[in-house]
Amino acid sequence: MKIAVIAGDGTGPEVTSEALKVLKAASELDGFTYELTDLDWGSERYMKTGEILPEGAVETLQAHDAIYLGAVGHPDVTPGLIEKGLLLTLRFKLDQYINLRPVKLYPGVETPLAGKGPKDIDFVVVRENTEDLYAGIGGFLKKGTPDEVATQTAIYSRKGCERWLRWAFEYTQKRNNPKGKRLTLVAKNNVLTYGHDLVWRTFQEVAGDYPDVEADYNHVDACCMWMVKNPEYYDVIATTNMFGDIITDLGAIIQGGMGVAAGGNINPDQGGTSMYECMGGSAPKYTGQNVINPIAAIGAMAMLLEHTGQPTSGKRVMAAIQHVTGSKMESQAAGKMGFSTTEVGDLVVDAMANESVEA
Ligand code: IPM
Ligand code: MN
Repeated sequence: MKIAVIAGDGTGPEVTSEALKVLKAASELDGFTYELTDLDWGSERYMKTGEILPEGAVETLQAHDAIYLGAVGHPDVTPGLIEKGLLLTLRFKLDQYINLRPVKLYPGVETPLAGKGPKDIDFVVVRENTEDLYAGIGGFLKKGTPDEVATQTAIYSRKGCERWLRWAFEYTQKRNNPKGKRLTLVAKNNVLTYGHDLVWRTFQEVAGDYPDVEADYNHVDACCMWMVKNPEYYDVIATTNMFGDIITDLGAIIQGGMGVAAGGNINPDQGGTSMYECMGGSAPKYTGQNVINPIAAIGAMAMLLEHTGQPTSGKRVMAAIQHVTGSKMESQAAGKMGFSTTEVGDLVVDAMANESVEA
């Protein structure tokens, strides 16, 4: 397996090395080999060279089976610049049209939702990742004058809807929830009567090919209420890019916060290159202190393994993570874990080899 590693800025390299420690242990236990390519892309390089992605960046990445991303963002660089120039650019250029965000409350992790536990908070968001308001279409008229007008256009293509929704149905089928397979489309078709009408019609059409999956629908505002009041209702959610951005942060906080949330930017097509990342930022104030929580980063590695031909390893890492959150860590907050960053990585590695921790 060839993996491109963008450790990034701030605490990115610290959490990435714990994820790589876990990858090494997985390869030894499950008997596969891998090669890493370290890429120094991020804010430091940008400040030195003025360039976010070097020439040939996309081709370099395409020569790998997967990309592992630590975190990007630096206090001396305009907020959003690297995120846009690196993360969003790669999503588009590599056509990673699925943004997969598991919302899973691990044992021992605190949720702000009163009375809810790990059996209640366990669903997955399949966010479309290349269209909608993120397409960057728009402009200004009479910019800087009192008569200024700005437009920002959301686009939805038939092809874009179909490939994303089909993948979401397939995923729901494979996930095979024992409580019943349910795919909830989250949109706003009562107001977005063109764009989300196309989404809705495509959803109904594709649903016909998956009779064993309940094709369900929520408006996005109602979904925000249900995610807080009845998160156990959800199995898999399919949602558009912008709404997906918003509800996945709501998801991250109910699963215990940025220290645990991970995601994948997936191009599921033959030969596609996908990128896995932890959701927390580069946390500059904790850099170099060995206090940041690596669980999200290790979770991103579990996802990489699961989707890059090593599902047994992926499951093994997920089981080890849950053993460590459930029986070792005191908190998921930086500096309050009861362990250092490197110790948490070691605990996960130990749990992976422990036969009583079942994958
Ligand atoms: C996410 C992030 C990105 C997004 C930002 C960093 C551009 O919030 O992955 O959810 O808006 O998609
Ligand atoms: Mn987001």
